[in-house]
Parts: sequence; C-alpha cells; structure tokens
Amino acid sequence: MVKEKSANFIIFGGSGDLAHRKLYPSLFRLYKAGYLKDHFAVIGTARRPWSDDYFRETIVASLKEYFTDDEKIMSEFAKHFFYQSHDVNDSAHYIALKNLAAKLNDQFEAENNRVYYMAIAPKFFGVVAEHINSEGLKTKDGYNRLVIEKPFGRDLDSACELNGNIAKAFPEDDIYRIDHYLGKEMIQDIPNIRANNPKFEEALNNKYVSNIQVTLAESLGVEDRGGYYETSGVLRDMIQNHIMQIVGAIASDDPAAKRAKDIHKNKTDLFASLKNLTPEQVDTNFVRGQYDIDESGTEKAYRQEDNVAEDSEIETYTAGKIEFDTERWDGVPFYVRSGKRMPNKASRIDIVFNDKVAELGINANTVVTLLIERTNNQSILINGVNYAESAQDFIKFPEEAEFTTGREAYASLIIDILSGNRVHFTLWDELRSTWKYIDSIRERWDSQKADFPNYMSGTMGPDASEMLLERDGNSWIWD
Ligand code: BG6
Repeated sequence: MVKEKSANFIIFGGSGDLAHRKLYPSLFRLYKAGYLKDHFAVIGTARRPWSDDYFRETIVASLKEYFTDDEKIMSEFAKHFFYQSHDVNDSAHYIALKNLAAKLNDQFEAENNRVYYMAIAPKFFGVVAEHINSEGLKTKDGYNRLVIEKPFGRDLDSACELNGNIAKAFPEDDIYRIDHYLGKEMIQDIPNIRANNPKFEEALNNKYVSNIQVTLAESLGVEDRGGYYETSGVLRDMIQNHIMQIVGAIASDDPAAKRAKDIHKNKTDLFASLKNLTPEQVDTNFVRGQYDIDESGTEKAYRQEDNVAEDSEIETYTAGKIEFDTERWDGVPFYVRSGKRMPNKASRIDIVFNDKVAELGINANTVVTLLIERTNNQSILINGVNYAESAQDFIKFPEEAEFTTGREAYASLIIDILSGNRVHFTLWDELRSTWKYIDSIRERWDSQKADFPNYMSGTMGPDASEMLLERDGNSWIWD
C-alpha cells in the first residue's frame, strides 16, 4: 500500500548531471505513484545563479527525456522545486538554506523531515556535512538523513578521513551511503530466493559449490566521464562497491534475517573474512586491462578519450579471484569481472555446482544463473534455460508477494530513505574491509607498469582473464 511521505529534500549538486538523470526522474516516479504528493519540497543548490523558474524548466526538460506524461503533471511536480545558489564553504549560504528550508517546511507541512542529498563532487562531502551541523540546519522534531553518493573515498585512508568528518556531523544511523546496485530488484530478491528455496540454500557452500562468478560487463566506454575515470578505474568504480555488494548478497549467512542490524552484521562478517592478498597473489589472482580501438577502428581507445592521459595506466577491465576464510566458503573461488567496451551489457551471477551436489537431488555440475537485469522476464536460469522450463525444480521464484515490484533502483532507494530503512545501504564497517582489500590490489598495480592497451573494444577483455580460471580447471560461463 502506498503511503504518502513528508519531507524536504536539500540536494547539493542540484543543477548537476546525476540529479537530472537519476534523482529527479526517480522523485517523479514516486510522485506519480503517490509516495510524494502534497507534503514535499526539493531545494536544489549549486554555484550557478539560477532562478526557481529556470530550475523548474530544467527539471521538466529532463523529465521529458524519460517520460511521456502530460507536461501539466510535470509542471505540477516541478512547483515543489526551489533553487538556492550556494558556495559550499560560505557559512552565510547555509543560513540562507536553513531559512528557505524552514519556510518550505511550513508551506508544504513537511513535518520537519530533512533529507540532505550529496550529489556533488566527493571532495565536498565532508565540508557540507560539517556545515549542515554547525550552521544548525538540522531540525529538532523531524528526522535528518544524510545521503551520500559514491565514491566513498578512493582508498581506505581517504574513506576513513571522509567517514570521520561525516561522523562528527551525523550519527551512523542517519547516514545512507548509496550503492545503486543495492536498489536493483534482483539484488534485493536474492535473500528471498535463498530463504524460500531450502535445497538451493543447502547447496550454497564449499561442499557443493565449485565456484561462483559475478560479471558486470558494459558495452559502452567511459563516454564523457574520462576525467573521473582517470581517478578511479574499474577497480574502484565497480569492484570495490557493486561487485562486493553482490557477492555479499549471495554469500553472507542467514538470508532469512529481516532486521537491518542482522543483515549488516552478516555482510560485515563476510567482508571481514576476505582472504588478504600478498603482492605476488595480486599478480596471480587479478588481471587488469584497458580497451584499445575496435577491429574496424571506429571506436576510440581509452587513451584517446576526452580528459584521459595519452599514456594512462588506468584499467577499464578487471577480473579477479576472491576467496573467503569462512567455514562455509573456504576453498570456493569467487571469480569477478567488470569491464567497459565488452561485447554486451551483462550483469549476472553464475553459481557453478560440483558433482557432489547430486546427493541433494540436483544434477551434477548444474549452473544456476541469476540475471541482475531481467531480460524477457527471465531472472533465474538453470543450465542456461529459464528455471520454469527446466527439468529441475530445486529453485524457483517464490510467490510474487515476497518480491519487489518493478521499481527502478533509485526510486526504491529513495523510498527506503524516506522510510528510515537502511537495509539496502552500505555501512562503514563493510567499506573498511572492502577498501582494505582493494588497496592491496591497487598498491601492487601502482608499483608496476601496465602493458596497456591490451584488449580490443567489443571483446571479452584480455586473454589473461580466461587463463585465470583455466589454471583452476574452470571457465567463464558467460563468454
Ligand atoms: C556506476 C559506474 O556506478 O555504475 C559506471 O560509475 C557504470 O561507470 C554504472 O557504468 C553501471 O550501472 P548500471 O546500473 O548501468 O549497471
């Protein structure tokens, strides 16, 4: 049942790309669905001196790219939007923001609920959070929730520093760190699928699983994000966050846990058990690649992209073998990979069972695939066939009611923020472990020269990625 929410959003970076591409369309979805109705206001802030009217025009223009609704509905929605130009270091601007927020709270009866949304460059996260606190923007009798976009730091040290700054201004319980993969239906459904299919869950351990593969492949290149990508690379952009969270969903204990506290503890425990890599193990267990022009020479090489150095050593492809030191998973390789300019967009988890699994009544060497982006209504495949058409019935999608209902990832996460539900957000303890692990790879790579470019656009990445699995007698299921 849809229950209307009351809140005042303050969006730092309100004139930016993320806000226009993701946030405003999602807020509009919630508006059309009735979650947002009369009692909400959105203040967009950024440096540019825009008027409310101009801001609203930009919003309607963005919405038109995604929706075919009558413009009247879009304009009604846009009436809830206000603009305040803002310098993140200027205290006076926070006071102006505070006054505007107070006025809008009364006008829209937003119950003193505030969502502070950081859609700005990460270097400003800390300073904005501190000013929100020190300039008294927080309300007394509503909630004050801070939403942080990725990247949350660029290594363990910077993440610690950022976390320290934010923690001075907001208690952990009010911090919502976004990983938009946690807003995707399939990722949210994984615990339900596991909890509702006892035989599948019984088989999910080192006795029956040969290996687990997580693939996040993209056909696009870095597009206009070369500048950002040069500071990130796929290791930080996809592996540290999205891939790790997917692994967390499939591998953490007790999928039936319902309380956010328990779910986070299970995930934190799993990440704390990541087997550390020595520099030599980084060489054997992780592969890096960078795309070159394609066969026909029409697609640019990464080094030819805008804002990318001609001799860039940033990786656009990574494959690796991750292992956990737990009773459940000891000895099971989790092969993960992500890359730009691969043949297709594919987001999937392949669980490869061994031959012992026959003792549970599952055919030996069965592969279960969970498709993160559903295609043709398919979400679970057994040996490449939709589960409903497979001869095996040890896993299926349980009752519809148990599942999320066609929500777009960001819209789903915003409902969670408005409901105070932190299940689908990342906690600091999880990040600490994943950053530590990623740092060991980054440090090794930074100490060695990369042999780039080493894969052609439109291909499956460097050959070493195949060899990584072949060495263990395995192979990629999606190839
Ligand atoms: C983002 C990355 O977090 O995820 C992008 O910064 C990437 O580089 C994107 O393209 C992929 O998300 P999705 O939802 O399109 O698979």
